[in-house]
Formats: sequence, structure tokens, C-alpha cells
Amino acid sequence: MKILVINGSPKGERSDTLKVTRAFIEGMGESFELIDTMQVSVKPCLGCYACWRVTPGKCVQKDDMEWILERILASDLVIWSTPLYCYSVPSNCKALYDRLIPLGTMEQKVDENGGTYHPGRQEIHTQIMLISGCGFPNRENNYEAMDFQFDRMFSKECPRIYCLESPLLGIAEAKPVADRYLAQVRKAGAEFKATGRISGETQTLLDAPMITPDVYRAQINGR
Ligand SMILES: Cc1cc2nc3c(=O)[nH]c(=O)nc-3n(C[C@H](O)[C@H](O)[C@H](O)COP(=O)(O)O)c2cc1C
Repeated sequence: MKILVINGSPKGERSDTLKVTRAFIEGMGESFELIDTMQVSVKPCLGCYACWRVTPGKCVQKDDMEWILERILASDLVIWSTPLYCYSVPSNCKALYDRLIPLGTMEQKVDENGGTYHPGRQEIHTQIMLISGCGFPNRENNYEAMDFQFDRMFSKECPRIYCLESPLLGIAEAKPVADRYLAQVRKAGAEFKATGRISGETQTLLDAPMITPDVYRAQINGR
């Protein structure tokens, strides 16, 4: 299975989110290719629409996005591994989101909820997933924008793991709770490999904070 991880964390290998992503793929028993968004050159979309009007499917900018798009299309599974920044994705990751537009077409269609979208240029068989870590202990009033963006960009069906309190994964004193969380992530990876989905029971454990929000905030505030 060809798995491509797109690391949207500006921290590169030190990303806490990447620890979750690595555990998930370990649970799947697979290997993966990594693209570090801080190490590639992907310029912002120019908004010229040449990729729709002039050279369908091809961007006028000749940078790393050319081969990244090819890699995405050639993968069985693409995991966007990104922290939550200002309730959304970091700007280096957003540049890649914007540069996906050559995969769409100019046409505007209406979906079953009345939303407008651009249909894809070609049938894409790549499965897409999101793994994200964040610094707050709550999903509500925090992840809504990223969640909505991912629904609209890709699909509501795409699996996702939102790791609340993810800085705990890098704190030595928190190792027991972090290890417990990562064990659940490995289980999720194994389930996903076997059934194509994460079980409701495992998802509930992954969605929960590692320690209670009040204790977490007190620990963070006391550091
Ligand atoms: C610029 C910036 C914005 C952030 N915004 C949020 C936020 O909106 N919500 C949140 O819960 N955490 C926020 N955080 C905390 C990060 O999501 C958190 O530190 C996360 O563990 C980083 O993951 P990484 O190690 O994979 O990069 C922000 C951090 C930075 C540096």
C-alpha cells in the first residue's frame, strides 16, 4: 500500500502530530513516504485560473507542487498530518491545499446540501485522511473551521484523528498518558487496515483529552 504523509507542521520531525501519524501507520503495519511542507518549495496560488482555462490540470508555476500532485494521485492513502493553527491549518499547509485546484474544474455544481463545489477533473482513487494535534483540551470552539474545511475540500467521509492536548506527547512527565493514547492510535491504524474504518469505540477514545481539561490547563499554565 502506498501511503503518503504530508507533514504540515512547521516543526518538521519534532511535530507532536507526526508522532500520532507514525503510530497510526505503525498500527497499519505499513511504511510511508513523507513530504515535509517546510522543505519543499510550493508558492502561493496566483489565482490566475490558467490551470482551468489555459492549460487544464496544469499550474503555470513550476515548483515542487508539480511532483507533489503526481505523488498524491499515485498514492493509495494520503494523510494530511498537521497541527491546528489559529483554528485552521498552518500557512505552509494551506499553500498546498490552494495548489490542489488544478485537480478541479471551473464548472460549479450544487451538492445535496445546497453547497456549491467544483467537480474533479478526473476520477481520483486516493483515500484521504486527516491527523491533527492541537494545544487546547477541547474540540468544541476549536476544530470547527478545520473540520468544515476538510469536509468541503475532500469529503465528510474522510477519517480523522484530532489529538487534543498534543503537547503532552512531548513532555517526559506525561509519558504514561501519552503512551496510552498512542496505543489507541496504533489500534485505530490496525482497525483501519483491516476494515477501512476506525471503530466507534476507538474513535471515542481518540477524541477524548488525555487528561481532564482543568488539570491540563493548570499544568500548562504552571510551566
Ligand atoms: C501560531 C499558532 C497557532 C495555534 N493555534 C491553535 C489553536 O487555534 N487551537 C489550539 O488548540 N492550538 C493552537 N496552537 C497549538 C498547536 O496546535 C499545538 O502546539 C500543537 O501541538 C502543535 O503540533 P505540532 O507539534 O505537530 O506542530 C497554535 C500554535 C501556534 C504556534
